[in-house]
Amino acid sequence: MSQTDSAPVLVTGATGRIGRLVIDQLLDAGVPVRALTRRLEAAAVLPPQVEVVTGDLTAPDSLEPALNGAGVVFLLWTAPPATAAEVVARLAARARRVVLLSSPHRTPHPFFQQPNPMAALHADLERLIAATGLESTVVRPGMFASNCLPWWAPAIRAGDVVRWPYAAAATAPVDDRDIAAVVARTLHQDGHVGGDYVLTGPESLTHAEQVAVIGDALGRRLAFDEMTPDEFRTLSQGAPSAAVEMLLAAWHAAVGQPAHVTTTVSDLLGTAPRTFRQWAADHASAFAKDS
Ligand SMILES: NC(=O)c1ccc[n+]([C@@H]2O[C@H](COP(=O)([O-])OP(=O)(O)OC[C@H]3O[C@@H](n4cnc5c(N)ncnc54)[C@H](OP(=O)(O)O)[C@@H]3O)[C@@H](O)[C@H]2O)c1
Repeated sequence: MSQTDSAPVLVTGATGRIGRLVIDQLLDAGVPVRALTRRLEAAAVLPPQVEVVTGDLTAPDSLEPALNGAGVVFLLWTAPPATAAEVVARLAARARRVVLLSSPHRTPHPFFQQPNPMAALHADLERLIAATGLESTVVRPGMFASNCLPWWAPAIRAGDVVRWPYAAAATAPVDDRDIAAVVARTLHQDGHVGGDYVLTGPESLTHAEQVAVIGDALGRRLAFDEMTPDEFRTLSQGAPSAAVEMLLAAWHAAVGQPAHVTTTVSDLLGTAPRTFRQWAADHASAFAKDS
């Protein structure tokens, strides 16, 4: 471990998918952790040795207790963008370094080059951080493997058919645990200032192939029934339409060519990235009919 001082790493998004796993990795490495949450109740899921601090990225003043005495900061932003500049200015004044969870919006593969409000926010955050001169590292995961839990687990628990758009859209799902391991490494190890890391899983798989892999993990044959984009829009009523259109555009662009695959996970960790087959085997219980 090279985080030489005893200042805690401040983890934002600490109670979410990636932040929660980053905390486990940091604790395993013996690094003191401070977790940001908007609500103390949400932090009940965190290990007891984590220092929990309340704060809200949409209310920059509220972040002062979290930033006071923090060393390196993991910044994960799912909040509205309006306060991004003020939050980054506070980080630059108080933190030693920041690791930003972004996305591969600079990768010239059509899947990553569609209209995408999240990517626009990530690009803004990167520009703001660069303009302050704060030392930084950017981690850019592609499609999280865990996305298929909310997408497909309800259908697979209920039956043997997944209805979804673009059977032939290819992605390289990256295991959340590999994302978190890379993030943790860049937080507690020296040598990552200026690092810009695009993370993917090890193989390109179409939606239909991903569903079949989940079926294999369950010992069941699952069918993929392709729905139209309009059917998907109807199914997604209630979700923000920008997010729905973002997904449809990206998937449409991902048909007919393999997904972009990088070796960054193994380059940085020295171990092969987990396959989607491994992810499915480890999460099979979430898709099982009796779960
Ligand atoms: N899904 C993908 O395939 C994918 C791919 C590339 C990049 N990404 C990026 O990954 C990020 C999402 O990561 P995730 O899935 O781990 O997120 P998540 O599970 O949705 O968790 C979001 C976390 O942010 C915290 N949060 C929300 N609003 C906040 C606010 N106003 N102030 C402070 N904290 C706030 C929440 O904590 P509390 O409720 O405890 O406050 C929660 O723990 C996004 O930036 C997304 O664009 C996703």
